[in-house]
Amino acid sequence: MDFSKSRNLFTRAKKSLAGGVSSNSRIKELPSPPFFNKAIGSKIYDVDQNEYIDYVLGRGPLIFGHSPKFILTEVKKHIKSGQIYGTTTKLEIDLSEKIKSIFPDMELVRYATTGTEVVELALRLSRAFTYKSKIIMFEGQYHGWTDNTLIPESNIQKNSMLNSEGIPSQSAKNIITVPWNNLNLLEKIIQENHSEIASIITSPAPECEINKNFLTNVRNLCDKWKIILIFDEVITGFRLSLGGAQKLCNIKPDLSTFAKALGGGFPISMIAGKYNIMSLLENNKVYHGGTLNSNIMSLSAANAVISHLINNHQNIYTHLYEIGNELISGIKLCAEKHNIPVIINGNGPMFKLSFLHDLGRSKINKPSIYKQFYKLIIQKGIRVEYGDHSGSIWFISTQHNLNDIKITLKAIDSVFQNISKN
Ligand SMILES: Cc1ncc(COP(=O)(O)O)c(C=O)c1O
Repeated sequence: MDFSKSRNLFTRAKKSLAGGVSSNSRIKELPSPPFFNKAIGSKIYDVDQNEYIDYVLGRGPLIFGHSPKFILTEVKKHIKSGQIYGTTTKLEIDLSEKIKSIFPDMELVRYATTGTEVVELALRLSRAFTYKSKIIMFEGQYHGWTDNTLIPESNIQKNSMLNSEGIPSQSAKNIITVPWNNLNLLEKIIQENHSEIASIITSPAPECEINKNFLTNVRNLCDKWKIILIFDEVITGFRLSLGGAQKLCNIKPDLSTFAKALGGGFPISMIAGKYNIMSLLENNKVYHGGTLNSNIMSLSAANAVISHLINNHQNIYTHLYEIGNELISGIKLCAEKHNIPVIINGNGPMFKLSFLHDLGRSKINKPSIYKQFYKLIIQKGIRVEYGDHSGSIWFISTQHNLNDIKITLKAIDSVFQNISKN
């Protein structure tokens, strides 16, 4: 495959754009970040005219694939009359009423533009509501890129483990990171710090897996110690089911954050939750702003997405799970055939593929199988996330079909064969 035009554009991009990208996670891609100029359904095309079956889907938002007509038609219809009015619109009420019909316990909602912003607002609301300042997060979970959240390592012993320069060490002092699924340690930390803990924030499906038992225990601890439970459903919301991961595990958080799939590719995020917490925004006690919040383009897209999901959710999620699980079983079969140690977490609409030997790779100093896999699979016209050194999340859309899966599995079979020879 030829990537020369993408390479040239990347060289040009780096001269005017910091790192050649607008999000750090895009820097790493090999052979260089691809430059795409067209995407329809499950396919994406780069400037070198390579076609790929796309399992990145804009890093999650595109549950209806690229360029879904029903969303674009709605957006085009509404933006003819204006893009941003800077006030509440009827579209905003329509959307909120639909959201409340899906989540009857969520009494109030607010919209913003990115997932990072609504997570930030959830943390602020929890602190304002409880008059406490510490937040518990779980190791390795991503909740956006702010000073409050970019603290992935355990800081139980060492408070200044931040993974970006420029974050004041005071930020880490208010965050306690705890290993996932370690109930005893979580209980101990809460017992020791409860007078200072405002909230616990977690993805309900970290690494794509819902651990109902642990989440139930977290909910119980929050109830016991009067701590706000925040589910960050930015990636799982409307993707794993109409009611998100929380519906699948039947646990009700106090606050929830959504983004990605809500806009089907348009920039919109949402925080939703109980009246007594969310109403702190009503009387201006807690501040939330955003010039672009609830712009007409994003609201019309989200209304189209949510209406479509409400009307067709059974077919939609059946398709996402069937297609995703077909791919997963096929990958497992290929792995068995070529003796490749794959690990797959999650199922259906979103799963993580990694390789056993890559876990703890830095310690055993072995080349990452995932890196080899990534380099080879892209050459076969299959687009997956670069991810971390050990794996990445695969996203499925309603536009992926059995033929895409057949082509993908043929490519994976050949790549695994190649890797097993080395
Ligand atoms: C669980 C979770 N929370 C928050 C974010 C941040 O969202 P955004 O990139 O829209 O700011 C992400 C992004 O991937 C995410 O996966």
